[in-house]
Amino acid sequence: MNAAPEPVVSVLLDPDRAGDSLIDDVRRGLGSHPRTLSPKWLYDDRGSELFDQITKLPDYYPFAAEHEILSEHADEIAAASGASTLIELGSGTSEKSRILLDAFTATGRLQRFSPVDVSEATLRQATEALAERYPGLQVEAVVGDFTLHLAQLPGGDCRTIAFLGSTIGNLYREERAAFLGALSDVLLPGDSLLLGVDLVKSVDRLIAAYHDRDGVTEDFVRNVLHVLNRELGGEIDPGGFSYVPFWDPQMERMDLRLRAEMPQRVRLPGAELDFTLACGEEVRVEISTKFRVSGISAELEEVGLAVRQVWTDREGDFAVLLAGKPAR
Ligand code: AVJ
Repeated sequence: MNAAPEPVVSVLLDPDRAGDSLIDDVRRGLGSHPRTLSPKWLYDDRGSELFDQITKLPDYYPFAAEHEILSEHADEIAAASGASTLIELGSGTSEKSRILLDAFTATGRLQRFSPVDVSEATLRQATEALAERYPGLQVEAVVGDFTLHLAQLPGGDCRTIAFLGSTIGNLYREERAAFLGALSDVLLPGDSLLLGVDLVKSVDRLIAAYHDRDGVTEDFVRNVLHVLNRELGGEIDPGGFSYVPFWDPQMERMDLRLRAEMPQRVRLPGAELDFTLACGEEVRVEISTKFRVSGISAELEEVGLAVRQVWTDREGDFAVLLAGKPAR
């Protein structure tokens, strides 16, 4: 195989706009009930490091379960997708992508890999490593927000867009419908979506996955307050909050909150906010929706995407679905 051209990193995110979107988000979220912060802001350098530690916790099964599915079925996934371009949304360090890339490059069809992530530093590192490991592969990284930049992703005649890790579970039902609709709009017949979703299971196991003894998840969630203090010049006392994770059976989602253990002044000059949280008042920092294969398949169908194949791990904890436009 000939060496591919030098890897390319395109930056679609405007750093100034990123600042505005934090301000908008915080103003909107902290003003609503329950008060809410977007999980997007959990992943600064410290947050990404803590999330990495979470994936290694024995009780945090989603990472291992998806890893098992990808490792055991990568060849089938690659054959079913037939992709010449693989795009991965929220690729992070592209660690999981390697399992897919090994299988996708082995088909002889894959020409290009396009990791998409908001963190430019992480992407640049990943891109270097990937170009070295897959010399024939054209690596076109995109620094972007996958909720905003879907239409600007690389083209190609047979693309697979991978959205793994059950990150889709962070979105609310309406956001999910909008996101899947936008995805469907950019998918052509022949393209496909490879979606990883965490499945509904016993409440005990769900709580254990989000409330570890060592407090790693707690630190991860509380880190959002450090991000706000740093980015918006605030003086919130992260120690004044306790971590409250619970299962919402109605919505079938984990709801991760911080509760003010005494009245807390929230002064965020960068967002022109100054108010006091009452003792016991809660701020929702993240939701993690759990799915049923039938439910997510119906949601895909609603936006015109047909599920072609479903893989699960042996325990049935997690599912990876391949969906696409039905043949015309
Ligand atoms: C990366 C969003 C899938 O919801 O399980 C892990 C993030 N939060 N522990 C999840 C998370 C707390 C994770 N996702």
